Amino acid sequence: MTFRLAPLQRGDLARCAELETLVFPDDDPWRESAFQSELDAGYEYFGAYTDEAGLVGYAGVSVLGVKGNAEASVHNIAVDPAWQGKGIGRALLRALLARADEVAAPVYLEVRTDNEAAIGLYEAHGFTRIGMRRRYYWPSGADAYTMARPAQAAEEAP
Ligand SMILES: CC(C)(COP(=O)(O)OP(=O)(O)OC[C@H]1O[C@@H](n2cnc3c(N)ncnc32)[C@H](O)[C@@H]1OP(=O)(O)O)[C@@H](O)C(=O)NCCC(=O)NCCS
Repeated sequence: MTFRLAPLQRGDLARCAELETLVFPDDDPWRESAFQSELDAGYEYFGAYTDEAGLVGYAGVSVLGVKGNAEASVHNIAVDPAWQGKGIGRALLRALLARADEVAAPVYLEVRTDNEAAIGLYEAHGFTRIGMRRRYYWPSGADAYTMARPAQAAEEAP
């Protein structure tokens, strides 16, 4: 099984919205227009592509500010359920972190407190829990942890 990462293409955003309904059925999955807005805002999105199935995952991050005074936020990361557990989520997250590390930005994100797979992925990449947001997700009312990864200069990153 091979996949490659590349900047997410606007032509793939309908597929992203389709995947959202599979991976976030309880929590107001993003529509295509939400992804359009993210790209319009200049946020950085990667897609994971396979020869067999085309787009099978995507992830996005905002990196704001300049080196020494930058901050990054993971906006989204998801892998097609049929392609999970094959290292694609890890590769996508690492692509986002590499962008943050270019400007030594600390990275923040929210994750459902019951999302063991995602929490495991984040903890394996230096994130720790720094807070809790009650009833953060809609319409499920699920709670979120806020997690943070301290700033790392590109040359120090694993
Ligand atoms: C979270 C998600 C992106 C991980 O993607 P993936 O391609 O399945 O993950 P990978 O195969 O790259 O696994 C990377 C690491 O994630 C963690 N992980 C993945 N699946 C896991 C599971 N079922 N249980 C516990 N940890 C898991 C492990 O730390 C794993 O590393 P390891 O294989 O060395 O143990 C994927 O499960 C997903 O799309 N979930 C639905 C959407 C979502 O919850 N997004 C996060 C929102 S905050």
